[in-house]
Amino acid sequence: MKAVQVISLTLLSVLAASAQIFSPGKCPKPAVQENFDITRYIGKWYEIQKLPNTFQWGECGTATYSLKNAGVGVLNRELLADGTINAITGSAKVKDPSEPAKLEVSFYESTPPGPYWVLSTDYEGHSLVYGCTDFGLFRMEFAWILSRQPTLPEETIEELHSILTSAGVNVSKLAVTDQDEALCRPMDQ
Ligand SMILES: *[C@@H]1O[C@H](CO)[C@@H](O)[C@H](O)[C@H]1NC(C)=O
Repeated sequence: MKAVQVISLTLLSVLAASAQIFSPGKCPKPAVQENFDITRYIGKWYEIQKLPNTFQWGECGTATYSLKNAGVGVLNRELLADGTINAITGSAKVKDPSEPAKLEVSFYESTPPGPYWVLSTDYEGHSLVYGCTDFGLFRMEFAWILSRQPTLPEETIEELHSILTSAGVNVSKLAVTDQDEALCRPMDQ
């Protein structure tokens, strides 16, 4: 079998085995938030929508960013169906100081850092995060719509969808995260 066929078959089995978003073609290079200021970005964000991925499968998702000596600390929490809280810590850093909105996030020493590009944020309301990695003829995409509140106005969501659409992301693949107050109460502890 030719190498390309082997790679394609491998990718297809990965695709079939995971909820990760794989698409044919190379990663787009969307514009990112101008003059991104990480110090205004830190604090807690609620996950409103995301592209399905293999490491977040609960509801009530939050991401909390904090300034650490050498970079940014990341704490992702979510409520699993069995009522337990899944918490994962990582770190983020800016690779190139001339592009401060392009961060790299890593959760485990053993796995390579993933791109975390802030496409749009007003720091106090919403954030739109996109990450994409090339895998040969395919790309693997991540996207999160985050909010400082457990909800986000519909018109803001529509604006963020149009940014994603311009970047070539199929927004109908976005999954809505349940942030229902009663459901998410265990997260307060
Ligand atoms: C976008 O995703 C939806 C839902 O998975 C799918 O039905 C549709 O064909 C996709 N559209 C494109 C252009 O890929």
